[in-house]
Amino acid sequence: MSEELYIPKGVSREEVYKSLYPQLKALTASEPDLIANMANITSALNESFGFFWIGFYRVVGERLVLGPFQGPVACTSIAFGKGVCGTTWKEEKTIIVPDVDKFPGHIACSSQSRSEIVVPVKHNNFVVAVLDIDSSQLNEFDKTDAYWLEKICALL
Ligand code: SME
Repeated sequence: MSEELYIPKGVSREEVYKSLYPQLKALTASEPDLIANMANITSALNESFGFFWIGFYRVVGERLVLGPFQGPVACTSIAFGKGVCGTTWKEEKTIIVPDVDKFPGHIACSSQSRSEIVVPVKHNNFVVAVLDIDSSQLNEFDKTDAYWLEKICALL
């Protein structure tokens, strides 16, 4: 496929996800490398929605290590069960945080981050990475984001 994304303007966030998903499916289907696909997914989500920070952390041994991302520099290493990312790894399910100040143990890579969603990436039922998205607005993410981001992570 062409490496240019079509992103509809002036439509709901769900409509943008609906348009984006088949394009990401086509883009990732032809490439077996995990990092390359993670890189394009973060870029596509950034171009589509412009959230404050979008990135992957990969499971490497006993910790999550920073992978491809879009946004300001971030923490490079997160332990199992720590922060929103490490808790997502431990609980193996998506976590939506409407207000990061109210999540016990939230790891603040930036004071500008106000709400967050973290989605596990699974291979053969094991968490191999997480997708972390931060917003500078409170209450940015809901079930629609969880649904589509889980579908996008399943492409990896
Ligand atoms: N807030 C995350 C840390 C990663 S940064 O947001 C990029 C957490 O609590 O796990």
